Amino acid sequence: MVKKTKNPVTYTKMKGIVSYFAALIKERKFGSADLLQKLGTRHPIYRHMDAECFLRPEGSSVCDEAGAAALCFTRTTQELQRASAADFDYLKVIGTGSFGKVLLARHRENDRYYAVKVLKKQMILKKNVEGHVMCERSVLLKTVNHPFLVRLHFSFQTRDRLYLVLDYADGGELFYHLQKERVFTESRARFYAAEMASALGYLHSLHIVYRDLKPENILLDSAGHVVLTDFGLCKEGIVGRATTRTFCGTPEYLAPEVLQQREYDRTVDWWGLGAVLHEMLYGLPPFYSADRMVMLSNIMFQPLVLKAGVSKAGRDLLNRLLNRDRAKRLGAKHDVAELQHHSFFSSIRWDDLVAKKIKPPFVPSLSGPDDLTNIDPAFTNLPVPQSLGVCEDAGMTFPGFSYMS
Ligand code: ADE
Repeated sequence: MVKKTKNPVTYTKMKGIVSYFAALIKERKFGSADLLQKLGTRHPIYRHMDAECFLRPEGSSVCDEAGAAALCFTRTTQELQRASAADFDYLKVIGTGSFGKVLLARHRENDRYYAVKVLKKQMILKKNVEGHVMCERSVLLKTVNHPFLVRLHFSFQTRDRLYLVLDYADGGELFYHLQKERVFTESRARFYAAEMASALGYLHSLHIVYRDLKPENILLDSAGHVVLTDFGLCKEGIVGRATTRTFCGTPEYLAPEVLQQREYDRTVDWWGLGAVLHEMLYGLPPFYSADRMVMLSNIMFQPLVLKAGVSKAGRDLLNRLLNRDRAKRLGAKHDVAELQHHSFFSSIRWDDLVAKKIKPPFVPSLSGPDDLTNIDPAFTNLPVPQSLGVCEDAGMTFPGFSYMS
């Protein structure tokens, strides 16, 4: 006799639940992480592990720290996996920030390479930026579905640290390559700008403003596609023409309204894209001066001068993106669609671009996934902290970081 469970998950029930949430996703009312949270509070099926795995998008995670180690579950290929700090070998430092480091790490079991962002809780609490960290994780959970945004595989915490396990973009920083070549050809710059625009448009469709488009956040994968990383300064929940004021970031690429602490909206990202495109085409950011204070004043008050050497379409696009009046800036009304229709991008087939069907203009030379020649030696020469993953106790100072309930 077949023993009946109290609440069996039948195919019909599953189908109904899936179509209900598919409809919600279609309406873009919620990010997938929110969906799962709502599901958790509303529907008993959430407690059913298979259903939980089935509904959870690849790369998002639910964690359990009941044990001695900080554990995290994530569904990658077919099976459910759990991860803790001790599951990785930490090989090299590949980036630094004010709250911690980014390390190249190899998963001891699946042998895959990841970029692990390790943040020190003490620093985060001291600088009062818990919000940034939780926001970064939340954005990473929501943006599981874009080819040019870094993906989160696991997140967990120990007593002293927070861990975000991300795709490893092994082509290095885009600007590491730009530095070597001084400027990019127009068609190469167009390809990168188009991939960035597509990623920013996707974020805006989720009501997320990236805010911090700057050289060190733009990476290349092994095939030469753009990967935007670092969502620490993203702002969630800016809908349509809603605005905000708070910000701290690198001044060179910031829109004048941000520098002047006036209200700003998603159009700051189109200014940022203009600044990055300017640097790719001319070798320097717009309004450049070796004296930082002069440069800040230039950004706010000097007219934009675009020398010959860049096509008319390129200069027109820069002029429109770097418009101080954000209401008149390209993208102010119809967001990325306005950029897509600009003549500078007329050769880009946007559907092919997002499907990664356009061949990248440059493929980083790599002998293997652990080849670090594209990473700045200023990072790789730094010592790897010995304590990572060794004798690290579980912690819960950041509830919700490695726990979704
Ligand atoms: N530096 C910062 N984040 C990174 C990532 N995801 N891959 C490679 N290098 C990085």
